[in-house]
Formats: sequence, C-alpha cells, structure tokens
Amino acid sequence: MTKAIILQAGGGYANVTVGSREARLPKAGEVTVRLYANSLNYHDFAVVSGMWGPSEPRIPMADGAGEVVAVGAGVTAFKVGDSVVSTFFPTWQSGEPLVEGFATVPGDGVDGYARELVTATVESFTLAPKGWTHIEASTLTTAALTAWRALMSDDHLKPGDTVLVQGTGGVSIFALQFAKLAGATVIATSSSEEKLEKLKALGADHLINYKATPAWGTLARDITDGCGVDHVVEVGGPATLEQSMLAARVGGHVSVIGILTGLAGHFPLVMALIKQLRLQGVLVGNRTQQQAMIQAIDANSMHPVVDKVFALEDMVQAFQYQERSRHFGKICLQI
Ligand SMILES: NC(=O)c1ccc[n+]([C@@H]2O[C@H](COP(=O)([O-])OP(=O)(O)OC[C@H]3O[C@@H](n4cnc5c(N)ncnc54)[C@H](OP(=O)(O)O)[C@@H]3O)[C@@H](O)[C@H]2O)c1
Repeated sequence: MTKAIILQAGGGYANVTVGSREARLPKAGEVTVRLYANSLNYHDFAVVSGMWGPSEPRIPMADGAGEVVAVGAGVTAFKVGDSVVSTFFPTWQSGEPLVEGFATVPGDGVDGYARELVTATVESFTLAPKGWTHIEASTLTTAALTAWRALMSDDHLKPGDTVLVQGTGGVSIFALQFAKLAGATVIATSSSEEKLEKLKALGADHLINYKATPAWGTLARDITDGCGVDHVVEVGGPATLEQSMLAARVGGHVSVIGILTGLAGHFPLVMALIKQLRLQGVLVGNRTQQQAMIQAIDANSMHPVVDKVFALEDMVQAFQYQERSRHFGKICLQI
C-alpha cells in the first residue's frame, strides 16, 4: 500500500482525506516512481475545491516529480534512480492536439500524483531537468509546458519579438522566463507594485500595474511605439481579452489560456478580424513539447520561481493560500 490523498466524489476541502492505495510492480512498458513533490495549478484547485469535483473518489494533482524505483520489461527510456516529472496528457505524445478535455488527465479524469508511489506507463513521465530538485521539477507539467507551447510551439518566438505576460502566477512567470531565454522583450503586468519589482528582477523590460492602469492594453501598444506586441499570453479571460487584443500587433498571436476572471464574456469580433489576430486556444501540451522544453532548460541555467512549499497533508491550506493570490510563481507540496 502507498500513502495517498483521496478526494471524495464531488470534491470540496471537507472531502480531502489522507488514505492509501494499492502499490504494484510495473508491467511491460511501465515504471514505478517514488513521488516527492507536486505543484498546484488553478485546474487542480478547481478539482479539489469542488468547482469541477470528480464523480468518483480521486487522487488529485496533475504535476508530480520523483525518482524511478522500478522499471518493467522492455523499458529503455528510464532506469532506476532517474529523476522524472509527469506529463499532463499521457496519451498525447506529439503532433497536433489529440485530446479534448480532461478525461485522461491525472488528478482529474484519472488518478493523479498526490501519493508516495505510482506505477504508470513510460509516457506518463519524462526525464526532469538536470540538477533540479524534485520540487523544482514538479512545477513543469502544467504551468511551464503551457507557457512553452504558447510561445515556442504554437508561435515561433524569435529574438527581438515582444511578449506581454499577465500577473505573477505560474504560467506567466514561466512565459517571462522562456521569453527572456529566447531574446524577446517582455511587458509584464501585475496588480501589485511589490510584485512588479520582482518581475523586473526576473528580467521584465516594461512593467504595468493593471489595477492602476485599466487601459493597460493601449499602454502596452504605446510602449511598442504603436505597433503592438507580437505575442500575448492571455491568462485573465473575459475581463482581460479585449485589452490583450488591443495590445497585440496586426497579425499578432494571442494564446487563449486562462479563466481567472470567468468562463465567458464579450468578444470584440470586429477587432479580431480588422487586426487579423491569431487567437489560439491552448490546453497544456504534448510529451514531445515537454521534452523540448526540458532540453532548453538543460541548455540554460534557468530555475523556476517557487513561492512556498507545503507538506502533502497540508494540501487544503496550500490551495487556500493560492486562493489569496499573494503568491509569486509556483506553490508546491512536499511528499
Ligand atoms: N489552458 C491551459 O492549458 C492552462 C494551463 C495552466 C493554467 N491555465 C489557466 O491560466 C490561468 C493562470 O494559471 P496559473 O496557474 O498561472 O494561476 P495562478 O498561479 O493562480 O495565478 C494567479 C495570478 O494571476 C494574476 N491575475 C489574477 N487576475 C488577473 C487579471 N484580471 N489580470 C491579470 N492577472 C491576473 C494575479 O497576479 P498579480 O497578483 O500579480 O496581479 C494572480 O496572482 C488560470 O486561469 C488557469 O486555469 C490554463
């Protein structure tokens, strides 16, 4: 048996329990991983808080990192002792999007990684970046891969491009870091002057307080001498989409990623067609993209921004901390 957090059907903080699940040896094509860390995402919050609670008891958390402790027959991708990190879509290896929704996503449609031991297919993991702790590696599965795919796969960011990132959550800070690695200029927004200073220290070239400047999209366009930005990493949703589209250049790319301000709203259709914008819905990414991202991390001295680490058993407090939105970067769990 292995220790696991079990979220009872329907979800909700009162339904988070510490329990156990059967542990088993790996079959052909499988590995067993001793998990040491998870990181929190808004999607995990939606599942655990009951917003999108599971229909049956579920081990939550999509992001898991740890060490391979056993390999099944025929496994060549990993050996015992390798540090690994989970994939968001174990069934989507490469190419065009294959998967709609969350039915195959660990921590939602199937059991996730809030547990000590898991036996899963090789495709459920990739190698972690060299020299990263398990806590650091656990930040990659959802937030980092979303930012990577948005900038590097759906669009092909190049030196000299301008990228706009919103707020200081996990996705946006990874987008800032990847954009700087690629030689782009970054315009970063936050509601907090203190966090804006931290964004500057991470390399942001231009800072906007989106609370103090509600027309931040127009200001971003002005910063680019009226041209508009090449790429917007849009995490706010209905309350930010219009400003994002105003910020973008003619033919610019807007990655439609987040729902921080709601699930539906006004869509400025005429602006989309007049500016010939490329709006691309994003749902994390595939395993090949994750491997490319980790190669880029290995080739640079990048590390993620981890705000705070909680014990696995304190998962509810960790999500309550996330709800307060005071964090800067990623919140993690130590298993
Ligand atoms: N589609 C996908 O594949 C995918 C993948 C990952 C995440 N997401 C979504 O992307 C969003 C962000 O995820 P995350 O994990 O980065 O969240 P997070 O870490 O919880 O980010 C929270 C931060 O977002 C900022 N924020 C809140 N309201 C904002 C607004 N109106 N305008 C600009 N920034 C705002 C705040 O930054 P400040 O405190 O600095 O203002 C806040 O601290 C969520 O909606 C999540 O569901 C989507």
